[in-house]
Formats: sequence, structure tokens, C-alpha cells
Amino acid sequence: MIADLWYRNAIIYSLDVETFLDANGDGVGDFEGLIRRLDYLDALGVNTLWLAPFQKSPDRDDGYDISDFYAVDPRYGSSGDFVEFMREADKRGMRVILDLVINHTSDQHTWFRQARSDPESRYRDWYVWSKKKPKYWDQGMVFPGHQESTWSYDQKARAYYYHRFYDFQPDLNTQNPEVREEIRRMMGYWLSHGVAGFRVDAVPFILEVPDVTRKTWNREFDFLYELRRLLQLRNGNGLLLGEVNVPPGEEKQYFGARGEGMQMLFNFWVNQHLFLSLATERAAPLADALRATRGVPNGCQWGIFLRTHDELDLGRLDAKGRAIVAQRFAPDDGMWLYNRGVRRRLAPMLGDRQHYELAHSLMFSLPGTPTFRYGDEIGMGDDLSLPEREAVRTPMQWSSERHGGFTLADRPVNPVVSGGVYGYERLNVESQQRDPGSLLNWNASMIRLRKECPEIGWGEWRILGSGSPHVLAMQYDWRGNSLVILHNFSERAVSARVRPRAADSDRLVELRIEEESRAGKSGTHEIVLDPYGYRWFRVGNLNYALNASRPQKIE
Ligand code: NOJ
Repeated sequence: MIADLWYRNAIIYSLDVETFLDANGDGVGDFEGLIRRLDYLDALGVNTLWLAPFQKSPDRDDGYDISDFYAVDPRYGSSGDFVEFMREADKRGMRVILDLVINHTSDQHTWFRQARSDPESRYRDWYVWSKKKPKYWDQGMVFPGHQESTWSYDQKARAYYYHRFYDFQPDLNTQNPEVREEIRRMMGYWLSHGVAGFRVDAVPFILEVPDVTRKTWNREFDFLYELRRLLQLRNGNGLLLGEVNVPPGEEKQYFGARGEGMQMLFNFWVNQHLFLSLATERAAPLADALRATRGVPNGCQWGIFLRTHDELDLGRLDAKGRAIVAQRFAPDDGMWLYNRGVRRRLAPMLGDRQHYELAHSLMFSLPGTPTFRYGDEIGMGDDLSLPEREAVRTPMQWSSERHGGFTLADRPVNPVVSGGVYGYERLNVESQQRDPGSLLNWNASMIRLRKECPEIGWGEWRILGSGSPHVLAMQYDWRGNSLVILHNFSERAVSARVRPRAADSDRLVELRIEEESRAGKSGTHEIVLDPYGYRWFRVGNLNYALNASRPQKIE
């Protein structure tokens, strides 16, 4: 039964085929290259791959501008290559989830071309039009500073069309039943290829009900529940994982009151407050964020991440919090984007190994499913000379060979980071594989540890008093087993005092190092944490199976 709801304890790895490995020597990563690196991912311990869009696209927004939802972009290979990849992933017990980009299409999609050139076309109403210039034509941009409006005039159509994102990404009219039908068909198509579900792009915008006269639009959630029902019919164990960056409370409708919506949402609130905690060295922002987002419906789960392919969005912090994080992690103007976020990779942002480990230990242990960004497992750097979010989308650094072993071509799709501490010459998979103390090997051991702690994915959790403002102490309980996990946000060593509430709680056994703690007379453990230190304990026993006695409730 633990295998059901597999996503509760999955280890997700997000990658873009384009920048992973180029097998055919044209400078662009491809499915053949990805296949060759599945053993690497398997050895790392990753068991779920989230693929960035690889469908046909003019590629003006890293593939999030799709011009044919049913075709593999020839730059990455053929449909046959995709099927081979799915087979190879399956052989290794890996699940694959795809990005589902249904808020908009590329302006080069044949639907939009027909819609704009013929008012009688059946596709006209697949998009959102206004004959007159809408009053709020320059409001609600997602990429301020890089996008001038949300409505643009189209000469051919002689009307304004709506685009929440760039002007080459016209929004689909999801109020139109034909559009809905087509989206379900397309999901069915990829599900029939064996994918385990979707990371759904830009969910709140998909659900908007257009009203040209108003500044903010209502959302209609039925469509979301429809998508879930379709998924359920085609793959009973399938997953919808939403990109839903909303304040606490609003997530409820996306999960659905009884879990009839998306099973997982990325926890943006926790993500942003985690960085506030890192920047202030105080546990409170993160602890409050966890409390604010607790209580997801049965069968649902948060996705926990540190970085994605986008900027680190800090838009949900208040101005003061945002300024503190910016000062600490984005001191130069060029590191800041869209007036709300940081366009840096994690390792250079955090600076040192201890801080990096602290952040990752949090990612592995917070309530939810950890999601890696490719390259972060070796601590890859960024390239701030590239425009916008491209800074964090440089090719994977496999070895110290030319272009980091990513391609044999002269010109890779994006330059590989070279020179200095983060350059491929020094920082690459091959050298870290040989070094037992490398980040890569540390991450592999943390993934193994996370898999041995099913309490995190399944259990109840609570925040324990720690006696220090710098320490986050959490307890997880599941099937008579308990974990106590501590994180110290301070750059100094700190002594924490914790009193777990569980049977046998006078003995805590460290899971990573040979050590245990015995409670003092009052039942309190006094635990000294290194600067940015973290400790994972199991209560009573080392092994969770020894404690596992009670049957599991069915969700
Ligand atoms: C969110 C994606 O994460 C981002 O990369 C993309 O630009 C927008 N949606 C538009 O699809």
C-alpha cells in the first residue's frame, strides 16, 4: 500500500533535454543523450523525472511556447526516441512527468495562425480577443520590465489578443468547451505513452475567466477537477503537480476540498520563507510558513524545492523580507529580475558548503516531496551574462572535456560555465564521482536517507520548541515511528533543547553519524549543532522497520 500514492516519497529531478547531454553532436541536448545518463540519475537515487517542454516550439521562452502539442521538437529527437527513452526509464523503475503548458500556445501554432487570419475560423474563439483596447491592457504582466502589456493588437485579426506572459504566447480560452476537449485529448495522448503525470504550468492563469472590463478575473476550478478526472480514468496512479504560487489558504481550491484537484502543489510560500530564514539566520519565518500551509487534504502533498528553471521568486515576501533576502543573496543589480526575484543558481547564491548542505537537508526533510534542479547535485554555477532566466539554464557539466562533455559540437546551445570555481574544468560530475566527499556523493547519501524515512512523506508533523531562535526542530510520526530533525540557521554553533513527544523518546539515534542522545532527567535532550548544522534522529531505534507495527490507514 505504501507504493500507492508513490509521489509522497518520490525524489523528483527536473531537467531540460535541451541542456542535459547532446548525443548527435549538433550542440543541442537530445533524448538519446538523456537515455545515456539514466544510469547516472538512477545511481543518484532519483526516481521521478520532470521534463521541461520538449514539444515543437520556436523556443522563445525555453520551450514554454509550444507550436505543436503532439510532436517532439526535431532538435531533441523523434517520437521514436521519446518512446525509447520512456522504455529505458521504465526499465529502471523511474517515472516521468511532463510539463503541461495549456495556458497559452506559441503565436506560431496553427490554431493561432488560423484564429488571427479568419474571424470565421473555428479557432477564433480558442483565444481571448477584444475589439477595443481593454482598459487594463498594461496590467498583470508576469515579466515586468521584459513584457510591455497583457493585451497586444494584432493587425491581421484587427483586434487585441490577451497574453498573460510574453506577446508571442497568446492565452487559450479555456472557457471554450472545444479547447477543453482538445486539452484532455492531448493529456490522453501523452498518458498513453506511459507518463506518470504532469507538472501543470501557470495553473492560476489557466483557470481565469476573461472579462475585458475588469482588472482582476474570477477563477473557475471545475476545469481543474475535470483534468484530474481524466487523469484518474487513464492512469489511476497518475499525478498532477501544480505551479501554483498563491498565499496560504488559496491553495485549498487547487487541492480540492476532498483532494479532487491536484495531488501536489509546489510550496512557494515555504520556499520563499526558507530563504528568508537562511538570510536572517532565524527559524521563525520558515516555521510560520510551515504552519500556515499545513493541513492538506488526504492523498495530497506539497512539493518542496529550492530552485527551479525560473528566478527565485520572492514576490510573496513583504518588502522588508524581500530586501533582506536580496541584500544577502543578490547583492548586484544584475542578479535581480522582474523586480521580485533572484536569477542565480543555488551554490553561488549560498556561497559555502555548510550553507548548501543546510538548505538541501531542509529540502529533503520538510513535509513534502523533494525536487532537485539538474546540476544542483554537483553545485553548478550560473552565467549572469546570459539574458533573464537563461542565467540558470547552462548545460550540464559532465567532465573536464571541452564544453564540459555536454557536446562535441563547436557551439553548445548555451555556453557551458567555464573558468573559476564553478567552471566545468573543475566542477563536473566525473571528478565528483571519484571523490567520496563530493557534493554529488553527499546528495546521493541524503537521497538514500530520505528514502529510509517514509515518516516524512506519510506522517504527521509538528514543530518542537528548541530553546533557540536559530533552530528549527521538527518531529514526524508515522506507524509508531518518529523522527526528530534539527536545523541550525546560525553561522555559530548552537545548543538546542528538545523534548520529543513519543514513546521511547529518551533515546534519539542519529541516522547519519554514529551517535545517540540520551534525555536528561526532565526528558529534555541537549543537542549541540555546528554552524549551519543539521541532525536527523530516529526516536528509540535506528531502523524504522523495527518500530513499524500499526497498520496504515487508507487515504
Ligand atoms: C511558468 C514557467 O515556469 C516559466 O518558465 C514560463 O516562462 C511561464 N510559465 C510561461 O509558460
